[in-house]
Formats: sequence, structure tokens, C-alpha cells
Amino acid sequence: MGAEGMRKVCVVGASGKLGQYMVRRCLERGYEVVGVCREQSVPKLAAFDGRMTVVPGPTNDPDVIRRAVEGCDGVLTVLVPWGVRQYASGTAQAVLDHARPGARLVFSCGWHITRDGEDRYSRMFTLGVRIATVLGRLVRAVEIDDQVEACRRVFDSDTRWTVVRGSTLKEGDSEGLPVWSRHVGDPVLASDRTRRVDFALFMVAALTDDELVREAPAIVGCRTPSALAHARGPASGG
Ligand SMILES: NC(=O)c1ccc[n+]([C@@H]2O[C@H](COP(=O)([O-])OP(=O)(O)OC[C@H]3O[C@@H](n4cnc5c(N)ncnc54)[C@H](OP(=O)(O)O)[C@@H]3O)[C@@H](O)[C@H]2O)c1
Repeated sequence: MGAEGMRKVCVVGASGKLGQYMVRRCLERGYEVVGVCREQSVPKLAAFDGRMTVVPGPTNDPDVIRRAVEGCDGVLTVLVPWGVRQYASGTAQAVLDHARPGARLVFSCGWHITRDGEDRYSRMFTLGVRIATVLGRLVRAVEIDDQVEACRRVFDSDTRWTVVRGSTLKEGDSEGLPVWSRHVGDPVLASDRTRRVDFALFMVAALTDDELVREAPAIVGCRTPSALAHARGPASGG
């Protein structure tokens, strides 16, 4: 879908940090914006009063999502592994079930998600994910496995999806559109750092980038050392 076909966009998880950056970017692009967030988080969207529609409710509630995505050309979904009640997979499923056929669906997650098993992780990274998975389960606060299940459902769907896999996120001013690669472990990604505002930039840009349909790009900041070295290329000794 070209830029001209994108008019109305739903942001699922609009009240979080990434969600708010995406709302701002969508408004800058002139899209009509609908946001979904938990009832108690609606005040976090006060800065956008009058400029967007908010549908309050749990993002894994099919009825909430059905109402929110109605008539939307694109849906941006923040997948988070919070709680122990399949919040991420429930959210993904509701979006997959209720977005209109042909809509662009863009989901966020981290590098720990692998689509084809070809990603190469450092021992530290793998250990960190294992610890987070076990500890999260123990304290019944985080369900990393469920974010994995959410992405599996997206990968298996025949929708026009993109799963954007973020590296370690930092706050700060935008550096520009992140660069991406298909596999974690590719040298361009080595710096493992992206500004959160630029993660949002990439998610929103993906709405109108057909090259990203059914891709799971792993992203890194365009001004990081590994991205700059890649841009210079081997001929310049990068
Ligand atoms: N943090 C990182 O370094 C990092 C790295 C790579 C990828 N990512 C990915 O980036 C995306 C955004 O992550 P973020 O860390 O930047 O967080 P974020 O944008 O602040 O978003 C957190 C989201 O989780 C929701 N949430 C918080 N507690 C919840 C609960 N108990 N039950 C249900 N929802 C709850 C928040 O909703 P409320 O506003 O209602 O609280 C908000 O929508 C995620 O997809 C994550 O996998 C993050």
C-alpha cells in the first residue's frame, strides 16, 4: 500500500512511551488516529486531546479491538509481555481477527523473537532472556513466552504484517530512520541501540513500505557505530 492509501491508523497500546511517539508521528503524517489503552492510562494521552479518538480497555479484549480498528487502513500494535494472562498473544489475536482484510499490521517486539531460527545471539543476551523468562514467571509479572506465542501467530497469519524487532531502547532526540537487517548477529546491528523515538519512526514508516510486508526486521539506530561502519562499507575500511 502506498502512502496515499493510508488514512486512518489505530495504535494499540497508545499510552506507553512507544505508543505516544507513534501517535505523535501519525498525527504529523496527517493520519486520523484511534488509540487503545487501559482505562487507567487514558490521562497519559491528554496531550493529544481533540486530535485523536481513544478507545479505553484492555488491548486483549476482542470487542475493544474490533471497535477500535474499524475502518483503519493500518494498525500499529505494541506487544508487551505483561501479566500472566496471555496479554500479548490475546492482543495479537484480536488484531489479526478484527483488522480489515488488506490492512497493514505492524507489531513491536524485541530481538529475542526469531522468525526462522537463523538469528545468532551472544551468550549474554540468551542468558538475559532466560533469566527474564524464569524470573518473570516466578513473580507472575512478565510472560516472555507469551510474546513469543503472539509473534508465532502473526508469522503464521496470511495478513499483511510486519514484526519490528527493537534493539535496546534509549531515550533522546531522533537520529533518523533506523537501519535494519533480517538476522540478529548481522554486523550492521552490533551496536544494539535504538532511540525509542526512532523505533516509533520505523513502525510508522513500515505502514507504507511494501518491502517490509511479511518481514521481521531487526533494527538499530542509523547513527550507531555499527550502522555507520556498514554504511561506509568495507572499501573504506569501515
Ligand atoms: N524496553 C526496551 O529496551 C525494549 C527493547 C527492545 C524492544 N522493546 C519493545 O518495545 C515495545 C515497547 O516497550 P517499552 O519497554 O518501550 O514500553 P512502553 O512503550 O512504555 O510500553 C509499555 C506498554 O505496556 C503496557 N503495560 C504496562 N504495564 C502493564 C500491565 N500490567 N498490563 C498490561 N499492559 C501493561 C503499557 O500500558 P499503560 O500505558 O496502560 O501502562 C504500555 O502500553 C515492546 O514491544 C517491547 O517488546 C523494548
